[in-house]
Amino acid sequence: MILRRLRGESDITVPSRQRGPRPLALIRPALYPAIMENQTHERLLIIDFGSQVTQLIARRLRELNVYCEIHPYQNVTDRFLTDFAPKAVILSGGPDSVTREGSPRAPDTVFTLGVPVLGICYGQQTMMTQLGGRVVSGHGTAEFGRAFVSPQGKLPLLDGWFADETEQVWMSHGDHVSEIAPGFEIYGTSPNAPLAITADVSRNFYAVQFHPEVHHTPNGAKLYENFVKLAGFTGDWTMGAYREQAITAIREQIGDKKVICALSGGVDSSVAAALIHEAVGDQLTCVFVDHGLLRQDEAVEVVGMFRDNMNLSVIHAEEQELFLGELEGVSDPETKRKIIGKLFIDVFQKYANDIDGAEFLAQGTLYPDVIESVSFSGGPSVTIKSHHNVGGLPEKMGLKLVEPLRELFKDEVRALGRELGLPDSFIGRHPFPGPGLAIRCPGEITREKLDILRKADAVYIDQIRKHGLYDEIWQAFVAILPVRTVGVMGDGRTYDYACALRAVNSVDGMTADYYPFSHEFLGETATRIINEVKGINRVTYDITSKPPGTIEWE
Ligand code: XMP
Repeated sequence: MILRRLRGESDITVPSRQRGPRPLALIRPALYPAIMENQTHERLLIIDFGSQVTQLIARRLRELNVYCEIHPYQNVTDRFLTDFAPKAVILSGGPDSVTREGSPRAPDTVFTLGVPVLGICYGQQTMMTQLGGRVVSGHGTAEFGRAFVSPQGKLPLLDGWFADETEQVWMSHGDHVSEIAPGFEIYGTSPNAPLAITADVSRNFYAVQFHPEVHHTPNGAKLYENFVKLAGFTGDWTMGAYREQAITAIREQIGDKKVICALSGGVDSSVAAALIHEAVGDQLTCVFVDHGLLRQDEAVEVVGMFRDNMNLSVIHAEEQELFLGELEGVSDPETKRKIIGKLFIDVFQKYANDIDGAEFLAQGTLYPDVIESVSFSGGPSVTIKSHHNVGGLPEKMGLKLVEPLRELFKDEVRALGRELGLPDSFIGRHPFPGPGLAIRCPGEITREKLDILRKADAVYIDQIRKHGLYDEIWQAFVAILPVRTVGVMGDGRTYDYACALRAVNSVDGMTADYYPFSHEFLGETATRIINEVKGINRVTYDITSKPPGTIEWE
């Protein structure tokens, strides 16, 4: 598994664990049509064969200001290719073996489009097979992990490579190419992949056995840079250009109708709201649901920034009493989540109903949430993650979705946020779960515990910021434990709560590693929390990774 230091936070306000199937009444366009129609960018197509790191290819290209989309191989028909009109094609890696009968193939048309094609790992192998070469599997063909490729002749794709004789690359293959296709030449070899880099320069076809998109191929970005240069991309994909295009598209989609948005204060909903506001102004109303489970000063900061600084129409739904009342005496984690999820929907709907004629619901859905994944269980996969869906909204609301961030990766959303003038303090925020502090307060939730938790969390985050670690960490927070322990402060005995500090690094929240703080940092933070937060006399650090733990405590 290759680790990516990419923050893919989810800042939706509805508890994901309760989200059931997507409600039918939320009409989600297959693609964001207005933007697609206005799409004037040069486009690169990534055909996905199911590699774990296909998204990284897209990220490397977007960093080069090249617009690209990932599509599963099953969906790439000739008609699709004509409509998409790619300026270049990349064939991704994948888990299958081309030597297996019925294994995935690229559409043959890809090789007659007259555009540059780059095959990576499985993509290289299917390219070779389809163009008349041979791939073998078995003893001595596999190579996993770091390898070193040596050059063989000159190739523009490899400009800037081999300054040190060999290049470090990341290999992850069971099979290898044993015979190159007619027209191809060898330009690089590695001990277990004698045909590690091959190319047919006259047709602009390139094939590499390794993964240039991962960090373990340190010079890999250069290879993509060379490829898009060879394909003639001008680098016209910038957030400035996207902003203009998205605004036009939003105006076309919404017309003179009204939009509502559940603002959570997280980066995705914040950027979506700011963009839509720029497009349609007062036609947008945001609802910020304050369930009493927010962090210290959060409501004031979010409402203050959007309402007072940015002039957005924000309804501050102060429903603390309702939520905390319903949660009284409840200690089962799933029951808590169910209560919060149901109340959130009720409250959101109550406020939304007061907005006359709202026809659209805005969401900060991101590109990783909508990329269709390759399914080997038969047929094209239609599983689209609906992380950011305000799920469970009753059918009768019949709202259409506006998702202006559907084409963007997280870092692009941040860049767009900066472009729209949102402060860095908002753009770089750690994710915060919809159920809020409820799932950081195992056992029964009381106002007293929530107050203690807020204070401890604020000290912890302050420590992290002071040590310059905030942007290094994917998510950090305090959980207050349902246990009191004995301590001694001054000459007196204390009997107060214990708390756990949590800090993790993650790619997308699906897996996570605990953050390796220094002992000095932990010691200093524990002292500060105990000195500054009345009610806590013991601090622990949670060193569980996910799996087997989860990031939140409940
Ligand atoms: P877990 O605890 O499942 O969390 O490892 C993974 C990531 O998801 C966030 N999280 C949620 N976000 N609604 C949300 O919007 C939820 O119900 C929810 N539960 C967990 C969590 O903070 C972490 O970033």
